[in-house]
Amino acid sequence: MSDLEARARKIFPNVLGHYTWLTIDRGEGSWLITTDGKRVLDLTCGIAVTVVGHAHPRVVKAVTDQASRLMHISAGVAKYEANVALAETLATLTPTGLDAIVFGNSGAEAVEAAIKLTRQATGREAIIVFRGGFHGRTTGAATLTTSKSAYRRGYGALLPEVYVAPFPYPLACAVPGAHDAEACAAHCLAELDAMLEHEVPPEHVAAIFIEPVLGEGGYVAAPASFLRALRVLATRIGALLVFDEIQTGLGRTGAWFAGQKLGVTPDVMTLAKALGGGLPLGAVVAPRELMAKWRTGTHGSTFGGNPVSCACGLATIQVLRDEGLVARAEMLGQLMVEELTPLRSHPRLREVRRIGAMVAAEFDDKAVSKTATAAALERGVLVITCGFHDQVVRFIPALNIGEEDLRKGMRVFVEAVKTAQVPAPA
Ligand SMILES: Cc1ncc(COP(=O)(O)O)c(C=O)c1O
Repeated sequence: MSDLEARARKIFPNVLGHYTWLTIDRGEGSWLITTDGKRVLDLTCGIAVTVVGHAHPRVVKAVTDQASRLMHISAGVAKYEANVALAETLATLTPTGLDAIVFGNSGAEAVEAAIKLTRQATGREAIIVFRGGFHGRTTGAATLTTSKSAYRRGYGALLPEVYVAPFPYPLACAVPGAHDAEACAAHCLAELDAMLEHEVPPEHVAAIFIEPVLGEGGYVAAPASFLRALRVLATRIGALLVFDEIQTGLGRTGAWFAGQKLGVTPDVMTLAKALGGGLPLGAVVAPRELMAKWRTGTHGSTFGGNPVSCACGLATIQVLRDEGLVARAEMLGQLMVEELTPLRSHPRLREVRRIGAMVAAEFDDKAVSKTATAAALERGVLVITCGFHDQVVRFIPALNIGEEDLRKGMRVFVEAVKTAQVPAPA
Protein backbone atom coordinates (compact mmCIF):
# COMPACT_ATOMS: atom_id res chain seq x y z
CA MET A 1 0.00 0.00 0.00
CA SER A 2 1.36 3.44 -0.91
CA ASP A 3 1.86 6.05 1.79
CA LEU A 4 -0.89 8.22 0.23
CA GLU A 5 -3.36 5.34 0.28
CA ALA A 6 -2.51 4.59 3.91
CA ARG A 7 -3.04 8.23 4.88
CA ALA A 8 -6.34 8.33 2.92
CA ARG A 9 -7.61 5.16 4.58
CA LYS A 10 -6.79 6.60 7.98
CA ILE A 11 -8.33 10.06 7.58
CA PHE A 12 -11.45 9.37 5.49
CA PRO A 13 -14.53 7.47 6.71
CA ASN A 14 -16.02 4.55 4.82
CA VAL A 15 -19.01 6.28 3.31
CA LEU A 16 -17.29 7.02 -0.02
CA GLY A 17 -17.22 3.90 -2.18
CA HIS A 18 -14.06 3.29 -4.24
CA TYR A 19 -13.64 1.87 -7.71
CA THR A 20 -9.89 1.71 -7.07
CA TRP A 21 -7.30 2.93 -4.59
CA LEU A 22 -4.94 4.21 -7.28
CA THR A 23 -2.89 7.15 -6.10
CA ILE A 24 -2.40 9.74 -8.82
CA ASP A 25 0.33 12.32 -9.13
CA ARG A 26 -0.82 13.94 -12.38
CA GLY A 27 -2.73 13.56 -15.62
CA GLU A 28 -1.48 14.15 -19.17
CA GLY A 29 -4.03 13.79 -21.96
CA SER A 30 -5.55 10.33 -21.61
CA TRP A 31 -2.81 9.15 -19.24
CA LEU A 32 -2.64 9.19 -15.49
CA ILE A 33 0.73 9.00 -13.78
CA THR A 34 0.62 7.32 -10.39
CA THR A 35 2.59 8.42 -7.35
CA ASP A 36 5.01 5.56 -8.00
CA GLY A 37 5.52 6.63 -11.61
CA LYS A 38 3.32 4.10 -13.48
CA ARG A 39 1.37 5.27 -16.53
CA VAL A 40 -2.30 4.26 -16.59
CA LEU A 41 -4.60 4.76 -19.59
CA ASP A 42 -7.70 6.59 -18.37
CA LEU A 43 -10.90 5.29 -19.98
CA THR A 44 -13.09 6.90 -17.30
CA CYS A 45 -12.53 10.67 -17.67
CA GLY A 46 -13.07 10.87 -13.91
CA ILE A 47 -16.64 9.57 -14.44
CA ALA A 48 -17.41 11.35 -17.71
CA VAL A 49 -15.85 14.72 -16.93
CA THR A 50 -12.46 15.38 -18.58
CA VAL A 51 -13.82 15.19 -22.09
CA VAL A 52 -10.70 16.78 -23.67
CA GLY A 53 -8.29 14.82 -21.50
CA HIS A 54 -6.19 15.88 -18.55
CA ALA A 55 -4.30 19.17 -18.56
CA HIS A 56 -5.15 20.24 -22.10
CA PRO A 57 -2.84 23.26 -22.58
CA ARG A 58 -5.66 25.59 -23.70
CA VAL A 59 -7.79 24.60 -20.73
CA VAL A 60 -4.91 24.96 -18.27
CA LYS A 61 -4.09 28.39 -19.66
CA ALA A 62 -7.71 29.55 -19.39
CA VAL A 63 -7.86 28.34 -15.78
CA THR A 64 -4.59 29.92 -14.69
CA ASP A 65 -5.35 33.21 -16.49
CA GLN A 66 -8.76 33.38 -14.83
CA ALA A 67 -7.41 32.39 -11.41
CA SER A 68 -4.90 35.20 -11.54
CA ARG A 69 -7.58 37.78 -12.53
CA LEU A 70 -10.58 36.81 -10.39
CA MET A 71 -11.22 33.63 -8.48
CA HIS A 72 -14.52 34.45 -6.85
CA ILE A 73 -17.04 37.21 -6.42
CA SER A 74 -20.37 35.30 -6.62
CA ALA A 75 -22.67 35.71 -9.60
CA GLY A 76 -25.30 37.26 -7.34
CA VAL A 77 -22.90 39.98 -6.23
CA ALA A 78 -21.40 41.07 -9.56
CA LYS A 79 -21.19 40.08 -13.22
CA TYR A 80 -17.97 38.83 -14.80
CA GLU A 81 -16.97 37.87 -18.34
CA ALA A 82 -16.37 34.11 -17.94
CA ASN A 83 -19.83 33.55 -16.46
CA VAL A 84 -21.70 35.48 -19.16
CA ALA A 85 -19.52 34.16 -21.99
CA LEU A 86 -20.02 30.52 -21.01
CA ALA A 87 -23.80 30.99 -20.77
CA GLU A 88 -23.86 32.70 -24.19
CA THR A 89 -21.74 29.98 -25.76
CA LEU A 90 -23.77 27.19 -24.21
CA ALA A 91 -26.97 28.76 -25.52
CA THR A 92 -25.60 28.43 -29.07
CA LEU A 93 -25.20 24.66 -28.57
CA THR A 94 -28.38 23.73 -26.71
CA PRO A 95 -31.54 22.80 -28.64
CA THR A 96 -33.34 25.77 -30.17
CA GLY A 97 -35.39 27.61 -27.59
CA LEU A 98 -33.42 26.38 -24.56
CA ASP A 99 -31.62 29.65 -24.16
CA ALA A 100 -31.68 30.63 -20.48
CA ILE A 101 -29.16 29.20 -18.04
CA VAL A 102 -28.82 29.06 -14.27
CA PHE A 103 -25.47 27.80 -13.00
CA GLY A 104 -24.81 25.67 -9.93
CA ASN A 105 -21.86 23.59 -8.76
CA SER A 106 -22.69 19.97 -9.52
CA GLY A 107 -25.06 17.58 -11.18
CA ALA A 108 -27.13 16.96 -8.08
CA GLU A 109 -27.52 20.70 -7.60
CA ALA A 110 -28.66 21.11 -11.21
CA VAL A 111 -31.29 18.42 -10.59
CA GLU A 112 -32.41 20.13 -7.36
CA ALA A 113 -32.73 23.35 -9.32
CA ALA A 114 -34.79 21.62 -12.00
CA ILE A 115 -37.12 20.16 -9.35
CA LYS A 116 -37.65 23.63 -7.90
CA LEU A 117 -38.07 25.31 -11.30
CA THR A 118 -40.59 22.78 -12.62
CA ARG A 119 -42.63 22.72 -9.42
CA GLN A 120 -42.75 26.47 -9.06
CA ALA A 121 -43.40 27.19 -12.74
CA THR A 122 -46.26 24.69 -13.05
CA GLY A 123 -47.71 25.09 -9.57
CA ARG A 124 -47.80 21.28 -9.49
CA GLU A 125 -45.93 18.87 -7.29
CA ALA A 126 -45.70 15.37 -8.75
CA ILE A 127 -42.57 14.20 -10.54
CA ILE A 128 -42.32 11.09 -12.67
CA VAL A 129 -38.95 9.35 -12.99
CA PHE A 130 -37.77 6.06 -14.49
CA ARG A 131 -36.51 2.99 -12.68
CA GLY A 132 -32.76 2.72 -13.01
CA GLY A 133 -32.18 6.46 -13.32
CA PHE A 134 -29.43 8.25 -11.44
CA HIS A 135 -29.87 11.94 -10.71
CA GLY A 136 -27.53 12.59 -7.78
CA ARG A 137 -26.99 12.18 -4.07
CA THR A 138 -28.56 15.22 -2.42
CA THR A 139 -31.88 14.48 -0.78
CA GLY A 140 -34.12 15.69 -3.61
CA ALA A 141 -31.95 14.21 -6.34
CA ALA A 142 -31.65 10.94 -4.38
CA THR A 143 -35.45 10.72 -4.34
CA LEU A 144 -35.39 10.76 -8.14
CA THR A 145 -32.60 8.16 -8.17
CA THR A 146 -33.51 4.47 -8.47
CA SER A 147 -30.43 2.87 -10.01
CA LYS A 148 -29.66 1.23 -6.65
CA SER A 149 -31.76 1.22 -3.49
CA ALA A 150 -28.50 1.61 -1.52
CA TYR A 151 -28.55 5.31 -2.40
CA ARG A 152 -31.59 5.70 -0.09
CA ARG A 153 -30.60 3.29 2.65
CA GLY A 154 -31.31 4.61 6.13
CA TYR A 155 -32.36 8.07 5.01
CA GLY A 156 -36.00 7.89 6.01
CA ALA A 157 -38.68 9.74 4.05
CA LEU A 158 -37.32 11.60 1.05
CA LEU A 159 -39.29 14.01 -1.16
CA PRO A 160 -43.02 13.37 -1.47
CA GLU A 161 -44.86 13.00 -4.79
CA VAL A 162 -42.19 11.19 -6.79
CA TYR A 163 -43.49 8.32 -8.96
CA VAL A 164 -41.31 5.69 -10.61
CA ALA A 165 -42.15 4.23 -14.04
CA PRO A 166 -40.16 1.50 -15.84
CA PHE A 167 -37.30 2.53 -18.16
CA PRO A 168 -37.09 0.72 -21.51
CA TYR A 169 -34.13 -1.51 -20.70
CA PRO A 170 -34.68 -4.65 -22.79
CA LEU A 171 -32.33 -6.89 -20.77
CA ALA A 172 -34.13 -5.94 -17.56
CA CYS A 173 -37.65 -5.85 -19.02
CA ALA A 174 -40.45 -7.17 -16.80
CA VAL A 175 -42.22 -8.72 -19.79
CA PRO A 176 -40.79 -12.17 -20.48
CA GLY A 177 -39.22 -12.34 -23.89
CA ALA A 178 -39.69 -8.61 -24.63
CA HIS A 179 -36.00 -8.19 -25.33
CA ASP A 180 -36.65 -6.11 -28.37
CA ALA A 181 -36.20 -2.41 -27.55
CA GLU A 182 -39.45 -1.30 -29.18
CA ALA A 183 -41.52 -4.02 -27.46
CA CYS A 184 -39.95 -3.12 -24.13
CA ALA A 185 -40.64 0.59 -24.74
CA ALA A 186 -44.30 -0.17 -25.56
CA HIS A 187 -44.60 -2.06 -22.27
CA CYS A 188 -43.07 0.89 -20.38
CA LEU A 189 -45.44 3.38 -22.01
CA ALA A 190 -48.42 1.20 -21.07
CA GLU A 191 -47.15 1.17 -17.46
CA LEU A 192 -46.84 4.94 -17.55
CA ASP A 193 -50.42 5.28 -18.77
CA ALA A 194 -51.53 2.96 -15.98
CA MET A 195 -49.65 5.09 -13.46
CA LEU A 196 -51.54 8.19 -14.63
CA GLU A 197 -54.80 6.31 -14.38
CA HIS A 198 -54.27 4.68 -10.99
CA GLU A 199 -51.64 6.57 -8.99
CA VAL A 200 -51.13 10.18 -10.00
CA PRO A 201 -53.67 12.37 -11.80
CA PRO A 202 -52.10 13.86 -14.94
CA GLU A 203 -52.92 17.40 -13.79
CA HIS A 204 -50.74 16.89 -10.69
CA VAL A 205 -47.60 16.17 -12.72
CA ALA A 206 -45.08 19.01 -12.76
CA ALA A 207 -42.34 17.17 -14.62
CA ILE A 208 -41.16 13.97 -16.21
CA PHE A 209 -37.43 13.56 -15.53
CA ILE A 210 -35.42 11.12 -17.62
CA GLU A 211 -31.84 10.38 -18.58
CA PRO A 212 -32.10 9.86 -22.36
CA VAL A 213 -29.32 7.33 -21.82
CA LEU A 214 -29.13 5.67 -18.41
CA GLY A 215 -25.66 6.48 -17.10
CA GLU A 216 -24.96 4.97 -13.71
CA GLY A 217 -27.85 2.58 -14.44
CA GLY A 218 -25.91 0.81 -17.19
CA TYR A 219 -25.42 2.91 -20.35
CA VAL A 220 -28.80 2.07 -21.87
CA ALA A 221 -30.22 4.47 -24.48
CA ALA A 222 -33.97 4.94 -24.50
CA PRO A 223 -35.36 4.34 -28.00
CA ALA A 224 -36.08 7.62 -29.81
CA SER A 225 -39.71 6.48 -30.16
CA PHE A 226 -39.99 6.30 -26.36
CA LEU A 227 -38.62 9.82 -25.88
CA ARG A 228 -40.95 11.08 -28.61
CA ALA A 229 -43.89 9.50 -26.80
CA LEU A 230 -42.82 11.19 -23.55
CA ARG A 231 -42.62 14.50 -25.42
CA VAL A 232 -46.19 14.08 -26.65
CA LEU A 233 -47.42 12.94 -23.24
CA ALA A 234 -45.78 15.81 -21.35
CA THR A 235 -47.27 18.38 -23.72
CA ARG A 236 -50.70 16.74 -23.51
CA ILE A 237 -50.85 16.76 -19.72
CA GLY A 238 -49.16 20.15 -19.29
CA ALA A 239 -46.07 18.74 -17.57
CA LEU A 240 -42.48 19.69 -18.32
CA LEU A 241 -40.10 17.19 -19.90
CA VAL A 242 -36.67 17.28 -18.26
CA PHE A 243 -33.66 15.57 -19.81
CA ASP A 244 -30.88 14.88 -17.34
CA GLU A 245 -27.90 15.23 -19.68
CA ILE A 246 -25.34 15.41 -16.92
CA GLN A 247 -23.52 12.29 -18.15
CA THR A 248 -24.51 12.45 -21.83
CA GLY A 249 -23.98 16.17 -22.44
CA LEU A 250 -21.20 18.05 -24.21
CA GLY A 251 -20.45 15.70 -27.08
CA ARG A 252 -20.28 12.27 -25.47
CA THR A 253 -23.05 10.78 -27.62
CA GLY A 254 -21.78 12.20 -30.90
CA ALA A 255 -24.03 15.25 -30.65
CA TRP A 256 -23.71 18.13 -28.21
CA PHE A 257 -26.68 16.65 -26.35
CA ALA A 258 -28.31 13.22 -26.50
CA GLY A 259 -31.73 14.81 -27.09
CA GLN A 260 -30.41 16.23 -30.36
CA LYS A 261 -29.00 12.87 -31.36
CA LEU A 262 -32.33 11.17 -30.61
CA GLY A 263 -34.37 13.97 -32.17
CA VAL A 264 -36.38 15.05 -29.12
CA THR A 265 -36.32 18.49 -27.47
CA PRO A 266 -37.07 18.67 -23.76
CA ASP A 267 -38.40 21.69 -21.87
CA VAL A 268 -35.53 21.63 -19.39
CA MET A 269 -32.02 20.15 -19.40
CA THR A 270 -29.69 19.53 -16.50
CA LEU A 271 -25.94 19.62 -17.16
CA ALA A 272 -22.74 19.15 -15.16
CA LYS A 273 -19.71 16.83 -15.40
CA ALA A 274 -18.02 17.76 -18.75
CA LEU A 275 -19.60 21.24 -18.62
CA GLY A 276 -16.96 22.41 -16.13
CA GLY A 277 -14.14 20.69 -18.04
CA GLY A 278 -12.80 19.29 -14.75
CA LEU A 279 -13.90 21.96 -12.28
CA PRO A 280 -17.20 21.87 -10.38
CA LEU A 281 -20.02 23.34 -12.45
CA GLY A 282 -23.64 22.47 -13.13
CA ALA A 283 -26.46 24.15 -15.00
CA VAL A 284 -30.17 24.03 -15.55
CA VAL A 285 -31.22 25.18 -19.02
CA ALA A 286 -34.72 26.10 -20.17
CA PRO A 287 -36.56 28.55 -22.44
CA ARG A 288 -36.49 32.15 -21.26
CA GLU A 289 -40.32 32.30 -20.90
CA LEU A 290 -40.27 29.27 -18.61
CA MET A 291 -37.37 30.61 -16.54
CA ALA A 292 -39.29 33.90 -16.19
CA LYS A 293 -41.80 32.03 -14.03
CA TRP A 294 -39.05 31.19 -11.50
CA ARG A 295 -39.39 33.97 -8.99
CA THR A 296 -36.39 36.14 -8.18
CA GLY A 297 -34.57 35.18 -5.02
CA THR A 298 -36.23 31.76 -4.65
CA HIS A 299 -33.07 29.97 -5.80
CA GLY A 300 -29.36 30.82 -5.78
CA SER A 301 -25.84 29.75 -4.88
CA THR A 302 -22.65 31.32 -3.52
CA PHE A 303 -20.30 29.49 -5.86
CA GLY A 304 -22.57 28.55 -8.83
CA GLY A 305 -20.96 29.73 -12.06
CA ASN A 306 -17.63 30.43 -10.39
CA PRO A 307 -15.21 32.38 -12.66
CA VAL A 308 -12.55 29.66 -12.84
CA SER A 309 -15.07 26.86 -13.44
CA CYS A 310 -16.71 28.92 -16.19
CA ALA A 311 -13.37 29.75 -17.84
CA CYS A 312 -12.47 26.06 -17.72
CA GLY A 313 -15.84 25.05 -19.20
CA LEU A 314 -15.60 27.68 -21.93
CA ALA A 315 -12.09 26.61 -22.96
CA THR A 316 -13.24 22.97 -22.98
CA ILE A 317 -16.13 23.78 -25.33
CA GLN A 318 -13.76 25.74 -27.58
CA VAL A 319 -11.40 22.74 -27.76
CA LEU A 320 -14.30 20.38 -28.50
CA ARG A 321 -15.40 22.71 -31.29
CA ASP A 322 -12.00 23.60 -32.76
CA GLU A 323 -10.76 20.00 -32.77
CA GLY A 324 -14.03 18.58 -34.16
CA LEU A 325 -14.32 16.22 -31.19
CA VAL A 326 -18.10 15.87 -31.10
CA ALA A 327 -18.11 14.28 -34.54
CA ARG A 328 -15.09 12.18 -33.51
CA ALA A 329 -17.16 10.55 -30.72
CA GLU A 330 -18.92 8.42 -33.33
CA MET A 331 -15.66 7.08 -34.74
CA LEU A 332 -14.32 6.34 -31.24
CA GLY A 333 -17.50 4.49 -30.35
CA GLN A 334 -17.27 2.34 -33.48
CA LEU A 335 -13.63 1.62 -32.78
CA MET A 336 -14.40 0.48 -29.23
CA VAL A 337 -17.22 -1.80 -30.31
CA GLU A 338 -15.01 -3.26 -33.04
CA GLU A 339 -12.26 -4.00 -30.52
CA LEU A 340 -14.79 -5.73 -28.25
CA THR A 341 -15.74 -8.15 -31.07
CA PRO A 342 -13.59 -11.03 -29.72
CA LEU A 343 -15.80 -11.01 -26.61
CA ARG A 344 -18.98 -11.63 -28.61
CA SER A 345 -18.76 -15.36 -28.03
CA HIS A 346 -17.79 -15.03 -24.36
CA PRO A 347 -20.27 -17.08 -22.33
CA ARG A 348 -20.63 -14.41 -19.64
CA LEU A 349 -21.22 -11.43 -21.96
CA ARG A 350 -24.87 -10.40 -22.31
CA GLU A 351 -24.57 -7.38 -24.59
CA VAL A 352 -22.34 -4.67 -26.01
CA ARG A 353 -24.17 -1.33 -26.35
CA ARG A 354 -23.21 2.10 -27.52
CA ILE A 355 -24.40 5.55 -28.40
CA GLY A 356 -21.61 7.77 -29.72
CA ALA A 357 -18.59 7.24 -27.47
CA MET A 358 -20.67 5.91 -24.57
CA VAL A 359 -19.90 2.21 -24.76
CA ALA A 360 -20.86 -0.59 -22.38
CA ALA A 361 -20.24 -4.30 -22.06
CA GLU A 362 -22.85 -5.98 -19.87
CA PHE A 363 -21.94 -9.28 -18.21
CA ASP A 364 -24.19 -11.75 -16.42
CA ASP A 365 -22.67 -10.97 -13.04
CA LYS A 366 -20.50 -8.40 -11.33
CA ALA A 367 -18.01 -11.13 -10.54
CA VAL A 368 -16.99 -10.91 -14.20
CA SER A 369 -17.02 -7.11 -14.56
CA LYS A 370 -15.16 -6.54 -11.30
CA THR A 371 -12.54 -9.21 -11.95
CA ALA A 372 -12.00 -7.92 -15.48
CA THR A 373 -11.67 -4.26 -14.48
CA ALA A 374 -9.20 -5.20 -11.73
CA ALA A 375 -7.18 -7.28 -14.20
CA ALA A 376 -7.22 -4.45 -16.77
CA LEU A 377 -5.92 -2.06 -14.15
CA GLU A 378 -3.06 -4.40 -13.33
CA ARG A 379 -2.16 -4.12 -17.01
CA GLY A 380 -2.36 -0.33 -16.91
CA VAL A 381 -5.88 0.41 -18.16
CA LEU A 382 -8.47 2.12 -15.98
CA VAL A 383 -12.13 1.33 -16.65
CA ILE A 384 -15.07 1.43 -14.26
CA THR A 385 -18.38 -0.33 -13.90
CA CYS A 386 -21.99 0.81 -13.74
CA GLY A 387 -25.36 -0.93 -13.82
CA PHE A 388 -27.86 -1.99 -11.15
CA HIS A 389 -25.46 -4.68 -9.92
CA ASP A 390 -22.17 -3.27 -11.21
CA GLN A 391 -22.40 -5.91 -13.90
CA VAL A 392 -21.68 -3.46 -16.72
CA VAL A 393 -18.26 -2.14 -17.74
CA ARG A 394 -18.44 1.34 -19.26
CA PHE A 395 -15.86 2.91 -21.54
CA ILE A 396 -15.70 6.72 -21.39
CA PRO A 397 -12.52 7.87 -23.13
CA ALA A 398 -11.59 11.49 -23.68
CA LEU A 399 -12.84 12.52 -27.10
CA ASN A 400 -9.30 13.47 -28.18
CA ILE A 401 -7.71 10.16 -27.14
CA GLY A 402 -5.21 8.77 -29.65
CA GLU A 403 -6.69 6.01 -31.78
CA GLU A 404 -3.79 3.65 -31.09
CA ASP A 405 -4.00 4.25 -27.34
CA LEU A 406 -7.69 3.47 -27.38
CA ARG A 407 -7.20 0.31 -29.45
CA LYS A 408 -4.50 -0.91 -27.09
CA GLY A 409 -6.65 -0.12 -24.06
CA MET A 410 -9.60 -2.05 -25.44
CA ARG A 411 -7.35 -5.00 -26.32
CA VAL A 412 -6.02 -5.05 -22.79
CA PHE A 413 -9.58 -5.15 -21.50
CA VAL A 414 -10.53 -8.01 -23.84
CA GLU A 415 -7.50 -9.99 -22.65
CA ALA A 416 -8.42 -9.20 -19.04
CA VAL A 417 -11.91 -10.66 -19.56
CA LYS A 418 -10.61 -13.72 -21.37
CA THR A 419 -8.11 -14.58 -18.67
CA ALA A 420 -10.30 -13.63 -15.70
CA GLN A 421 -10.80 -16.54 -13.35
CA VAL A 422 -14.44 -16.19 -12.37
CA PRO A 423 -16.63 -18.74 -10.60
CA ALA A 424 -19.51 -20.08 -12.75
CA PRO A 425 -22.87 -18.35 -12.19
CA ALA A 426 -24.85 -19.74 -9.22
C1 LIG B 1 -27.15 11.55 -15.11
C2 LIG B 1 -26.59 12.08 -13.82
N1 LIG B 1 -27.30 12.98 -13.12
C3 LIG B 1 -26.82 13.50 -11.98
C4 LIG B 1 -25.59 13.13 -11.48
C5 LIG B 1 -25.06 13.75 -10.21
O1 LIG B 1 -23.99 14.57 -10.50
P1 LIG B 1 -22.97 15.02 -9.36
O2 LIG B 1 -22.20 13.81 -8.94
O3 LIG B 1 -22.12 16.07 -10.01
O4 LIG B 1 -23.79 15.58 -8.25
C6 LIG B 1 -24.83 12.19 -12.17
C7 LIG B 1 -23.54 11.72 -11.64
O5 LIG B 1 -23.05 10.66 -11.95
C8 LIG B 1 -25.35 11.65 -13.38
O6 LIG B 1 -24.65 10.73 -14.09
